[in-house]
Amino acid sequence: MANQSSIGVIIVAAGSGERFGGDVPKQWKPLGGLSPVERSWLSFTRGALVKLGQFRTPSWIGVVVDEAHVADAHALNEAKTVASDVIIGGATRRQSVANALKSMPSDVGVVAIHDAVRPFWPQSQWDNLIAACQGDDGAILAVPVSDTLKNHDSSQTVTIDRRNLWMAQTPQVFRADILREAHRQAERDGIEAPDDANLVERVGGRVEIVPSTTLNIKITTPDDWILAERIAGMTVSSAAMRVGIGYDTHRLGGEGPLVLGGVRFSDTGGLIGHSDGDALLHAICDALLGAAALGNIGQHFPPGAARYAGVNSRILVTETVTILKRAGYRPVQVDATVLAEWPKIMPHAEEMRRIIAEDLGIGHGMVSVKATTNEQMGFIGRGEGIAAQAIAMIAPL
Ligand code: CTP
Ligand code: MG
Repeated sequence: MANQSSIGVIIVAAGSGERFGGDVPKQWKPLGGLSPVERSWLSFTRGALVKLGQFRTPSWIGVVVDEAHVADAHALNEAKTVASDVIIGGATRRQSVANALKSMPSDVGVVAIHDAVRPFWPQSQWDNLIAACQGDDGAILAVPVSDTLKNHDSSQTVTIDRRNLWMAQTPQVFRADILREAHRQAERDGIEAPDDANLVERVGGRVEIVPSTTLNIKITTPDDWILAERIAGMTVSSAAMRVGIGYDTHRLGGEGPLVLGGVRFSDTGGLIGHSDGDALLHAICDALLGAAALGNIGQHFPPGAARYAGVNSRILVTETVTILKRAGYRPVQVDATVLAEWPKIMPHAEEMRRIIAEDLGIGHGMVSVKATTNEQMGFIGRGEGIAAQAIAMIAPL
């Protein structure tokens, strides 16, 4: 029996997407803020852990890409959450998988092959795939054919009995030894097959079917993209949405210009702070981190760290988004209030919204910035400092 403790994953993303067309390969096109490759990566790493609580994490992931996307592929694992390799693909899908098998560590007992262009696979079936693979040589996700099938050529049209017919998807999980053997023989015989199960069947392997869902579409044509955007936008149940609150205050009267919401104010003193003192962006970062229960801004960007001295706080925002991503979340919406006696904030609110929306990777309409004075009361009222409050909503990727 295969070594249960060692699971490898191969994500194939080296195709040129001829049927899809366009300038950016379909697997790297942003889909609700995250490309299909990123979604696929996260489905096997943090995202799955957060969503399901229990998920047999792979010990190694190979990402197969073309030369132009090697850096993007390395960026997926910048946090080094799992051992991984970036592999250059081949001319066909089979060759891309074969290249990855050459890099796969020898202690991998069970290997899952996944098309990066299936970002919505049902992770709830992961354990079933692995379990089915312990009894058989492999297991694949598939759905029964629901349309009536016709065999049509120039002379006639014949209806095909669709009982027992299934549409194969990925992930497809196999004992590593049999998959290696299947690929060896395919290479020897010059066989190109549409999927890996096909190659395993050729060498007499028994492949089990694990029922899947039709939402696990393969993004092949531009029509599929329309569907994919809808599926990505069906953002989970409201129970999966989370909210966080953030607050920050800063003393006025520093050296440089005041920076708030990424906007520079020309004629006022700066805010005293370790970074550029952008209290509004700091409150937003805290709200986002709070929503994911990931601590606060000081823990992630320590005030003593030289790296963050005088740093543009917009960098803290984009890094916060990366931290959320690793935890399986994305920002959905932010509302913030700046409390300041002066300067006037509202004339700059639109510009702040634009900057914040851009850095969070969400729509302009999902960001609100408001302002109020403190009616001359307290430290804000006396103009000694300003404060910002934010609330943020996040959702699973
Ligand atoms: N793939 C790959 N290497 C190849 C061909 C395909 O890694 N030489 C990957 C694709 O990137 C995709 C998966 O295999 O994630 C399924 O392939 P498909 O949907 O056919 O994608 P493309 O081959 O890119 O599209 P097309 O066939 O339309 O060119
Ligand atoms: Mg193809």
